[in-house]
Amino acid sequence: MHDPENALLQSWRHNAQAWIAAVRGGAIESRRQVTDQAMLLAILGRQPERVLDLGCGEGWLLRALAERGIEASGVDGDAALVAAAQAAGSRQALQASYAQLAEGELDIGSGYDLVCANFALLHQDIIPLLAAMKARLLPSGAMLIQTLHPWSVADGDYQDGWRQESFAGFPGDWQPMPWYFRTLASWLSALDMAGFRLLGLQEPQHPQSAVPQSLLMIAG
Ligand SMILES: C[S@@+](CC[C@H](N)C(=O)[O-])C[C@H]1O[C@@H](n2cnc3c(N)ncnc32)[C@H](O)[C@@H]1O
Repeated sequence: MHDPENALLQSWRHNAQAWIAAVRGGAIESRRQVTDQAMLLAILGRQPERVLDLGCGEGWLLRALAERGIEASGVDGDAALVAAAQAAGSRQALQASYAQLAEGELDIGSGYDLVCANFALLHQDIIPLLAAMKARLLPSGAMLIQTLHPWSVADGDYQDGWRQESFAGFPGDWQPMPWYFRTLASWLSALDMAGFRLLGLQEPQHPQSAVPQSLLMIAG
């Protein structure tokens, strides 16, 4: 792949409308049954006042937090998704690429209790971005990452590397998305290298499923 990070963000340009329909229509069963609730409970459990949702997409988490009286800002690299989040009531949604955030090119505020990333860290070089987010947190703050569980999606190839999501089975018109698979050790090492210490790790699971639906890490 020539420039997979760029292709990744480009894919969201193509997929934005189908993604909005899928998320808002509840088409993704694992989200409906397990992972939305897991993310919300992990956030609420820390009783934050101010949260930054990194890669906020169409903004479902921003709305869920605002409904609970939490001040939530969002940032995402795709203009159509940010516009959809704003149109649905999240005025504090901003368009910026992760590269811009890592370089500190945009004022996204600071003093956050939590920075969250829900299935939104899909590129390879996440360490500069995580380090930049650490600088936006209060000293007591934490980073909360929910992602695909590496053991559930490894498909017999348990090593870091670029993969492709085809969105087969999702309704609508999709362009394949490159994404970077990382092992559990690689996730923990990236957090460590960005200056974080792991505070907690969860493997949200549906009672009728034999595999976890996600990996959820809390680091401070
Ligand atoms: C799977 S979606 C998740 C969206 C949202 N967090 C949710 O839970 O619905 C991944 C999001 O990451 C964003 N994203 C991916 N790469 C990015 C980049 N390099 N810069 C900014 N945003 C990016 C996409 O635009 C997309 O909204």
